[in-house]
Amino acid sequence: MSKTVTFPQAITLPAIGQGSWYMGEDPSLRKKEIAALQAGLECGLKLIDTAEMYADGGAEQVVGEALSGRRDSAWLVSKVYPWHAGEVDAIEACERSLSRLKTDYLDLYLLHWRGSVPLEETIRAMETLQQQGKIRQWGVSNFDIDDMHELWQEAGGNACATNQVLYHLASRGIEYALLPECQQRQIPLMAYCPLAQAGRLRRDLLHNGALNQLAQQKGISIAQLLLAWVIRKEGVIAIPKASSVAHVQENAAALNVSFSSEELATINQQFPPPTGKLPLDVV
Ligand SMILES: NC(=O)c1ccc[n+]([C@@H]2O[C@H](COP(=O)([O-])OP(=O)(O)OC[C@H]3O[C@@H](n4cnc5c(N)ncnc54)[C@H](OP(=O)(O)O)[C@@H]3O)[C@@H](O)[C@H]2O)c1
Repeated sequence: MSKTVTFPQAITLPAIGQGSWYMGEDPSLRKKEIAALQAGLECGLKLIDTAEMYADGGAEQVVGEALSGRRDSAWLVSKVYPWHAGEVDAIEACERSLSRLKTDYLDLYLLHWRGSVPLEETIRAMETLQQQGKIRQWGVSNFDIDDMHELWQEAGGNACATNQVLYHLASRGIEYALLPECQQRQIPLMAYCPLAQAGRLRRDLLHNGALNQLAQQKGISIAQLLLAWVIRKEGVIAIPKASSVAHVQENAAALNVSFSSEELATINQQFPPPTGKLPLDVV
């Protein structure tokens, strides 16, 4: 069965979306990137993740072009730099993102990582953006469990819709505390770098003999194995970046892959779950 994830406000989405980091950097790839994003939407990969940071706004422009005439088919996420996350600056940063994305609202707006602006100020800015109809929901990214506890203690902090964090088979630290607590609070996690950047973050992943054998037995690619593994748990959505239609279609098919407990045990032998609290991995 195709896996889904439910965000607050009863928004249910396919558990794989699309990333956009590095899109918009090379004009010669623009058409290909737009076609890939559009193919992803057609395969049901509804969530598109971008940020003012990516290609200095260039990725938002690519996404905006991909969404021309089909804005409502996507669930659009962008992110604000920590140094733009103050009460006034965040409104202006969001307006610039909306203009590059050629839309009048974001479905979700995230604080990209924690900076020196007090959380309280960022929450007020997010609330203002919601009241103005510029964003539907807000959340955070790269917050470890202690940051989440601080956030939840702030007035309005419980409205945080998600935390976007690094999660792939070779980086399982969030499974110890962050993921269980977010699951318990019914806050979905967005897994970035679910393919470990196609192995650049952990080359051993793609070349692991046991994983390759398992993928072969299941008739899937190693990328599909990695994605299906990331979304095997409740409340996790993976946002791989893919800039070819072939990759996007391959990734979408991972929504229907599941694992037996024996298969999961084989995977655990290669990349064991955490046995204690580890610092949150970031890129
Ligand atoms: N919040 C944060 O701080 C943060 C940090 C990093 C990333 N992110 C978000 O998360 C998204 C995903 O992370 P990421 O882009 O860093 O890494 P990723 O999704 O783990 O890996 C992207 C790489 O995988 C390749 N790929 C995609 N599908 C594939 C397939 N089926 N088979 C083989 N290779 C495949 C892509 O190649 P092609 O492009 O050639 O298809 C690209 O080189 C980002 O794009 C961004 O939106 C957020």
